[in-house]
Amino acid sequence: MAESCDALGKSVAGNGYGGHVGFQVQAAEATFQHGECANMGDRLKEDIVASGLFGREPERRVDAFDTLDPEKGVTRPTGSEANRKVRTYAVEKMKEAGLEVRVDAVGNIFGRKSGSRPEEGAVMCGSHLDSVINGGQFDGALGVFSAIEAVRRLNDEGYENRRPIEVAVFTGEEGSAFGMTLLGSTVLVGRMGLEEALARRDSEGRTLREALEYMGYAGDFVMDLGSVEYFVELHIEQGPVLFKKNVPIGIVENISGIAWVYATIKGEGNHAGTTPMKMRRDALVAAADIIKFVEKHANEMVDRLGSATVGTVGKLNVYPNGTNIVPGRVELGIDIRDVVSRNMESLKREVSEALQSLEKKYGVGVDIVLPPTHSPEPLAPEVIDVIEKSAAEAGIRAMKMNSGAGHDSQNIATRVKTGMIFVPSVGGISHAPMEWTEWADIENGARVLTQTLKNLTQN
Ligand code: GLV
Ligand code: MN
Ligand code: MN
Repeated sequence: MAESCDALGKSVAGNGYGGHVGFQVQAAEATFQHGECANMGDRLKEDIVASGLFGREPERRVDAFDTLDPEKGVTRPTGSEANRKVRTYAVEKMKEAGLEVRVDAVGNIFGRKSGSRPEEGAVMCGSHLDSVINGGQFDGALGVFSAIEAVRRLNDEGYENRRPIEVAVFTGEEGSAFGMTLLGSTVLVGRMGLEEALARRDSEGRTLREALEYMGYAGDFVMDLGSVEYFVELHIEQGPVLFKKNVPIGIVENISGIAWVYATIKGEGNHAGTTPMKMRRDALVAAADIIKFVEKHANEMVDRLGSATVGTVGKLNVYPNGTNIVPGRVELGIDIRDVVSRNMESLKREVSEALQSLEKKYGVGVDIVLPPTHSPEPLAPEVIDVIEKSAAEAGIRAMKMNSGAGHDSQNIATRVKTGMIFVPSVGGISHAPMEWTEWADIENGARVLTQTLKNLTQN
């Protein structure tokens, strides 16, 4: 059942997170005011918990840190049944909040609340509902449901926004299907053609067009970003900074770039018992060089440049994956990030060269695929200032910071004045089943977001 604000506040102060996150730090202070937020906070909490059922096997309500299961998070890649269900849940909530819902040709969903000056550029606000494989229920969902909640709060107050508000749900932010991150927003800002996006295939060979049709989210409307003046996204930080510093709100200044490199290494599958060591073309042994290369070179850049470079081999498919078979083929998914484009590009180039050098060293073939790179983006000083002012007006402490995670905001920022609000992630954990943010911190985020929307819609 729903807790009162008071109960929410107490649960924060009393939660030591057991041994799960390796250290004990209290969540950022709760800033509920008595009688003010019980129902409003409960509404948002209910949306996050209810949407967290979709893609969790078996479906189960997770409404407190100690109800998390370290093995079982949420999995809802674009085009999955879970992705369809969570979209439909969000559309219902948008309609209940009085929003006029439209779906664009790449499956992005928009819910519009008109304003007293409908001809003025809108304030767009939202995030994504797809997830990584076995991730948490807050990543993306918080930004969508807090945007809907902000509209509900404005409705409850009878608040008259001048600029229209557009609540947005972007397609395929995570890249857990269709081979690239930030898919829907990349098309929206014109960095990828619609037909090219719709023709991308997932691991089952389905095109994005087929996946959207299956879910009932293949629209034909095209959102004109020329009609949008500002974009704001509330998100969990997904890193340790706010949690460790015990600061409730982060205001993002720069978002890291993301470069993915896909490689297929083709050796020769053969019998593990009969194939002499000197006669092997083992694709996994070659791949091991690359795993080590990425880790070593990212570290060297950090040491040499003091940069924020990170490099990860997060995906590895080994074929045929049998204990008594020399691996014949390996697919690697490599993730490279930095807030400085030059650093990211230089590591990407070095990794591509290292991959090519495997051909000579191990006698394997190497195919490389480079999905579009998302460049690092600074966010708009004007929106940063408005978020800072809004947090102060709400009486909630805030600090400026960068985002190591990627977000649709970095695409939208190339066309629209954009800002991001972060709330703390317990233990800095995300993209994992133990991802958690305290309800009191969720409420702080919702309040700063609502105040930001108020300020921006009057601008
Ligand atoms: C998206 O969440 C990313 O940072 O990979
Ligand atoms: Mn996200
Ligand atoms: Mn994510």
